[in-house]
Amino acid sequence: MKQNEQAIGVFDSGVGGLTVATAIKDLLPHENLIYFGDTAHLPYGDKSAHTIRKYSKQVANFLLEKQCKVILIACNTASAHAYQAVKNLVKDRAIVINVIDPMVAHLAGLPKAKKVGVIGTKGTIKSNTYPERIAAQLPDLEVVSLATPLFVPMIEEGFIYDDISNGIIKAYLKNEQLSSIDSLILACTHYPIIKNQIRKFFNFQVDVLDSAKVVAQGLRDILSEKNLLNTQKEPASYQFYVSDYTEMFEKIARIFFDMEIKLKVKS
Ligand code: DGL
Repeated sequence: MKQNEQAIGVFDSGVGGLTVATAIKDLLPHENLIYFGDTAHLPYGDKSAHTIRKYSKQVANFLLEKQCKVILIACNTASAHAYQAVKNLVKDRAIVINVIDPMVAHLAGLPKAKKVGVIGTKGTIKSNTYPERIAAQLPDLEVVSLATPLFVPMIEEGFIYDDISNGIIKAYLKNEQLSSIDSLILACTHYPIIKNQIRKFFNFQVDVLDSAKVVAQGLRDILSEKNLLNTQKEPASYQFYVSDYTEMFEKIARIFFDMEIKLKVKS
């Protein structure tokens, strides 16, 4: 198979990375995608850095076996803890992309931002990756971070746009630290699923930023620069793997991709 026809491998602990995969499908409809949800190990957000690296390398090896031309770490927790480890493993066999760097680059292009909030899993927030990378590029921007660990299980269980999720969102986001932010980074790929609930919580006064489109655009630029965009005429193929079958995953993936999905289990 020609290198440009090889698939883009996208992985996350669960359904969150589907937000990024869908943005890729919309922007790059000719690209074949292989999605891996590491559902047996979900959530990544409260695991140690060492464990996240171990899981991420296992998934990366699987995507390499599938001959992916790109391995996209569609998970902030794994991007924070395992990006370098995955790059070291993959070497020049595929392009490795994380979801944090494109978001920080995007933020640099938003001149209005003065005080930005970052919400994510415990792992992402504890890693301090966002404040460090933002400070390196935008030293005058004030950054406040908050872990919101219940969001992932809440979303994976399908509690969205209802009273339960509204209550949990309020309990976290009323935190004093976030009171005067003008922008909020959704530093977890699950969170775009509740983006409008979060926007509503802030009375639409805060610019809520998610990385899905930004990452897809970054990916397009890299592929085009390396002459690796797929020029095939046939419809793209989409494959979905999980490390443990869950009905909810299948249901959510079907909604995201708007097609019948046959989930394959790779344990
Ligand atoms: N979607 C993932 C992220 O962006 C993590 C969710 C989890 O805790 O597994 O961090």
